[in-house]
Amino acid sequence: MAEITKKWYKEMSVYQIWCRSFCDSNGDGIGDLPGVYSKLDYIQSLGVDGIWFSPIYPTPNCDYGYDISDYKSINPEYGTLDDFKMILDDCHRRGMKVFMDLVVNHTSSEHEWFKESRKSADNPYHDYYFWRKGKGKKPPNNWLSVFEGGAWEYDKNLDEYYLHVFAKGQPDLNMDNPKVREEVKSIMRFWLDMGVDGFREDVITFISKAEGLPDGFPLPIATGIEHYKHGPHLEEYLDEFRAVMKEYDCFAVGEGPQMGLKDAVELCSEGPSQKLDMLISFDHMNCDCFMVDWIKRPFSLRKLKNVYDRWQHEMYGKGWNSLYIENHDHARIIDRYGDVKFRVESGKMLATMYTMQCGTPFIYQGQEIGMTNIEINHLYDYKDVMTFNNYRLFHKLLGYSEKRFCKLASQVSRENARTPVQWSAEKNAGFTTADKAWFNINPNYKEINVEQAEKDPKSILNHYRKLLKFRKENEIVIYGDFKQYYKSSDKLFVYERNYQGQKLLVICSFSADPVRFKAPEGIDLSAGELVINTYDVLDPGENEFSTKPYEARVYLFK
Ligand code: GLC
Ligand code: CA
Repeated sequence: MAEITKKWYKEMSVYQIWCRSFCDSNGDGIGDLPGVYSKLDYIQSLGVDGIWFSPIYPTPNCDYGYDISDYKSINPEYGTLDDFKMILDDCHRRGMKVFMDLVVNHTSSEHEWFKESRKSADNPYHDYYFWRKGKGKKPPNNWLSVFEGGAWEYDKNLDEYYLHVFAKGQPDLNMDNPKVREEVKSIMRFWLDMGVDGFREDVITFISKAEGLPDGFPLPIATGIEHYKHGPHLEEYLDEFRAVMKEYDCFAVGEGPQMGLKDAVELCSEGPSQKLDMLISFDHMNCDCFMVDWIKRPFSLRKLKNVYDRWQHEMYGKGWNSLYIENHDHARIIDRYGDVKFRVESGKMLATMYTMQCGTPFIYQGQEIGMTNIEINHLYDYKDVMTFNNYRLFHKLLGYSEKRFCKLASQVSRENARTPVQWSAEKNAGFTTADKAWFNINPNYKEINVEQAEKDPKSILNHYRKLLKFRKENEIVIYGDFKQYYKSSDKLFVYERNYQGQKLLVICSFSADPVRFKAPEGIDLSAGELVINTYDVLDPGENEFSTKPYEARVYLFK
């Protein structure tokens, strides 16, 4: 059996903050760092060991912070570097880590480097980006951006185009230029020297583009992606960055869209050639859609179980999994894999389902109280470049009306995860004292909010606390292996973890209807302890029972 090495980052769980919507301290309607500071007790009370900040650097907000105009400073909308240092110090005093988002596939078009680069072709910064001559009246190749139309933007003054795989305001950095790599290292050192504990590296697997930037296979979006989704020099560049990381006791989780299990094993396998500590992968987020969240299909539990089975087995003893079911890029999970009609039940079950697996759990703000999607009926109420681009596509290619499009967006758009955190039943959900928050607040805040969840011992919030506490106190949850039962069931997800003679059995029902469960061969539930459950169970030792709606149980056998 594969040996498993112990590491601090394997034992932690992490809370993700998307600052703009977390908590507003000064009444301008925008979440900020003093707002975060005021909630550190709450965050720590969840039992997490660290915070990952989605970008909090200066930005013109064309992609809400993922377009950075200064890597060594703080967005004035959010506060100052001193505000950040106060959080950092306080977290460290509490024994919590702080991770920054490192967005280096691209900068903002407002970044000084880019402004310089477009001054002239012989400017020293010109080669920081991909500037190319067009082909006659056409762009240099046929690539399309992930966000908005073509991947090339023409600059009249230079008579050249620049590459942007994401929005126009996010020109891609030319990582082949050694000076750019030195800049990245200098950014890393800046934050690590300040005491930051590591990075979440944004679309880091996109940083190496194929030589000559050849035409790509035509697709409705992201044409050309095969030429940069795992480019020729990715490993080399990651090695360089890793060398910096090694000077510090820090960790790096890399976001890898379109990365498969094979890539993950290659990049994350422990040993001298390890590139990343873990990968944020997407396979498990595609069980109710095709390739991208916007192309819906009915949720398939079989697909989800299959993905987890493969990732849990293949990574075990080699690398390490990141575990997440929500972040700022996806609609809320209860609307996707759970059931809003059984919000609390399915929210608790989903929480159990993923945090009891092998890996480091990430929890996204609002997930812990079971926040849900928001219905928005007008395009003008949306904020995100991706939503607008999808409107163009769905309207142009499929003839969607605004109304029909908004109905879809209310189910799948990532903006569902970006509504302000619901702190209380007070005005604006207690998020801001301003008349209006920067973005719509979900009208269900009167029922769904932190204050209410704190009062209810059976809330999703208190269930997360139980799960994280149990995980911390039981190495089997962290280091145990993974074995699945009843693989063909499309209602139950049942798995077992084993570690040093102990066994953990996790039973999750994905159904509102009763499902007949029978303990697997050789397992006697009465010999175990029911350590986590989502209902009051009359006879926890019964080896056969019918599940309650979205019930989850965890048994420990010592
Ligand atoms: C990542 C981020 C996403 C952003 C994109 C471009 O996928 O998580 O929010 O829009 O990269 O930076
Ligand atoms: Ca504010």
